[in-house]
Amino acid sequence: MSKPLKVAMIGVGGIAKSHMPGWLASEYTEVVACCDVRADSVARWQDEFDISVGTTEVADILYDPEIDIVDICTPNRSHAPLTIAALDAGKHVICEKPLAPTPEEIRGMINARDRSGKKLMTAQHFRFHGNSQAVKQEIEQGALGEVYHARSWMLRRNGLIPTPTFIHQELSGGGPCIDIGVHILDLTLWLMGNPQPVAVTGVARAPLAHHANAFSSWQDEPIPTSFDTEDFAAAFVRFENEATLILEVSWLLHHEAEVEDMQMWLYGTEGGCHWPSAVFLGTNYATRQQYKRMLQSTKDRMEPHALECVEFARAVAEDLPSPVPAEQSLQVMSILDGIYRSQREGREVRITGNR
Ligand SMILES: NC(=O)c1ccc[n+]([C@@H]2O[C@H](COP(=O)([O-])OP(=O)(O)OC[C@H]3O[C@@H](n4cnc5c(N)ncnc54)[C@H](O)[C@@H]3O)[C@@H](O)[C@H]2O)c1
Repeated sequence: MSKPLKVAMIGVGGIAKSHMPGWLASEYTEVVACCDVRADSVARWQDEFDISVGTTEVADILYDPEIDIVDICTPNRSHAPLTIAALDAGKHVICEKPLAPTPEEIRGMINARDRSGKKLMTAQHFRFHGNSQAVKQEIEQGALGEVYHARSWMLRRNGLIPTPTFIHQELSGGGPCIDIGVHILDLTLWLMGNPQPVAVTGVARAPLAHHANAFSSWQDEPIPTSFDTEDFAAAFVRFENEATLILEVSWLLHHEAEVEDMQMWLYGTEGGCHWPSAVFLGTNYATRQQYKRMLQSTKDRMEPHALECVEFARAVAEDLPSPVPAEQSLQVMSILDGIYRSQREGREVRITGNR
């Protein structure tokens, strides 16, 4: 029996592959078309997944009335124009992270979503890990009280993908802030309850990437001299509710990490917790007993990149809210943009225009 929602993928490179199992697993969706600027990629994809419609023209997807959902997996700089065009053509859109590399572009995407009445979701797969879901649930039940401070980091020792999609500003819009900063920052803000950021002090520099023999162990390749983003950033963020956050991100750092070190601590009035271990700490002040407990059963229900597609399909089919609303991605990008502005201006910068 054919499934009710027809999906088209735009950009069938690396990450698109991890979305496919989700569209296949969903009771609501089937992938009927794919598009890429490279004809050879389209042909390979059609062959691998047995998809009848393949094209190098985005318009073929946008003006196909059969298609309900567009899944955008292209380089960052094309996210906003493609998303806006797809929403204006009446499609629901799930778009890879970052939703777009600037707050202005995300505001344009929110406007397009509102005028189309369609759904828009950012593919932030870390929210769909079993331990993220378990920690979120515990926090929502009050385990931390009011969260007033967080520390989070995503650090790689020699880990960047040395292709133009990632290391050229023109395509990526930025370095590790935009590539992996969006992951840890999105997760941190979500677990904090998405307080509104108001000010950022940050640095974003490239102290290691231009070393004569700099290399990436990700693909065991030298880093091209055309690298033009930051390789390291750090920031202090203030929120409207007086909470604070210390953030560190890097692709290249003399730091102990087999692949990458991604962690977070949240501190609240009733307790603290660590992600990804799902450890909760607290004190019973009446008995002066300190406790430490770990949540049980934090296994992944499904590979998280696939699960985010399953959840978006469900939101569209059952008219539920977007599982990752664009307003929350606007908060993330406003902070990252604030880091770049603070680096340029050498001082704390204010964040405005998020409402
Ligand atoms: N969530 C994650 O874990 C994760 C991991 C990797 C990448 N990503 C994101 O996914 C996106 C793509 O990254 P990737 O690693 O798959 O890159 P990639 O270079 O492997 O694939 C991108 C594909 O898009 C195609 N393309 C480029 N511009 C296009 C356009 N205008 N129209 C149609 N096709 C176009 C390219 O030909 C290529 O096949 C990026 O935004 C990246 O940040 C997310």
